[in-house]
Amino acid sequence: MKIVVTGGAGYIGSHTCVELLTRGHEVVVVDNLSNSAKESINRVEKITGKSMDFFKADLLDKNAICQILSRCRADAVIHFAGLKAVGESMTMPLTYFHNNITGTLNLLSAMARAGVKKMVFSSSATVYGDPATLPITENFPLSATNPYGRTKLMIEQILQDLFRSDPQWHIALLRYFNPVGAHASGLIGEDPRGTPNNLVPYISRVAIGLLDRVQVFGNDYDTPDGTGIRDFIHVTDLACGHTRVLSKIFSSPGLVIYNLGTGRGFSVLEMIQGFERACGCTIPYEIVPRRPGDIAACWADPSRAKKELGWEAVRTLDDMCRDTWNWQKKNPHGYARL
Ligand code: NAD
Ligand code: WQD
Repeated sequence: MKIVVTGGAGYIGSHTCVELLTRGHEVVVVDNLSNSAKESINRVEKITGKSMDFFKADLLDKNAICQILSRCRADAVIHFAGLKAVGESMTMPLTYFHNNITGTLNLLSAMARAGVKKMVFSSSATVYGDPATLPITENFPLSATNPYGRTKLMIEQILQDLFRSDPQWHIALLRYFNPVGAHASGLIGEDPRGTPNNLVPYISRVAIGLLDRVQVFGNDYDTPDGTGIRDFIHVTDLACGHTRVLSKIFSSPGLVIYNLGTGRGFSVLEMIQGFERACGCTIPYEIVPRRPGDIAACWADPSRAKKELGWEAVRTLDDMCRDTWNWQKKNPHGYARL
């Protein structure tokens, strides 16, 4: 199959390209490189020994996207492209709505025009807001507490409406929990610009000596050690989930929704300890006040994906920490400088 991957130069997209190429798919990446580096494409090709077509294009450029879609005769699109920083979305809501919503609308119009009606969308556990109970199933009520989360919720609704209007679409909404880790080769991984917002890249930069200490946002949550609990999932497990879901949506039209998580939560302190085991050094940390908007705990019920896709996460916390550290050590400054 020929798969267009929007945002394919980014963190989750690049790992998914590896899994697609490994399984014999042809891959066309569309990315404006606003939060990624072209080097990730070279690295994916190096890992797999296969080449991909790459278009540096912005989903906001409707003509460019229409041309790419009409020329490349794709079978399906996996849509990762979007802005993803929660805090930034609160200071730049219009930028987030424009990029994520308008970009998706342009993409969907281009797909419809080219007759490509199979779409896998990167949604997020953020659409569950602050869940009343755990674990979270796909039927939980949805809400969003920030503009980034609202873009995910709105795009889910847009895709539901599109499917209702034309049941020939094949659509999958994938709600990722907390992706971490890197490809086992250490050639691709997460490369945040500036100071990381997310826990694991932050820990990793402390371990390599680029940052002083981890700030643990609160130890007074109602959790066993008082720190936040999340369902961290290895990015390679997540990437494999995309290949399974493609097989599923190719078999019949419909709109399907899956949680992609491990079903198990780890606390902030457990992640720091896991990283200490991986890097063999002490990770300094300090307890600071809670980060506004954070919830105490969040983990998935991934049983629907297991039952219907035959997919489940197999990599452990130690795998996640080891692979993050391997990537960080080999690329202390990410893709920018070796
Ligand atoms: P990322 O920033 O590494 O990748 C996104 C890619 O999209 C980048 O390469 C960026 O350059 C590109 N992009 C952004 N806007 C674009 C536009 N208008 N046109 C073309 N390309 C554009 O992020 P990621 O972590 O790989 O996330 C991928 C997707 O998964 C995003 O939609 C994100 O919201 C979603 N998601 C991520 C997480 C997470 O924690 N990483 C969790 C849940 C959901
Ligand atoms: C994890 C835990 C923090 C940083 C975010 C988005 C979510 C999704 C995944 C896209 C929390 C604590 C963090 C630090 C800390 N992205 N923490 N010190 O907030 O669960 O999810 O990324 O869809 O939408 O909100 O992930 O890694 O930021 O935080 O103590 O320096 O680590 O309080 O308990 P989060 P995170």
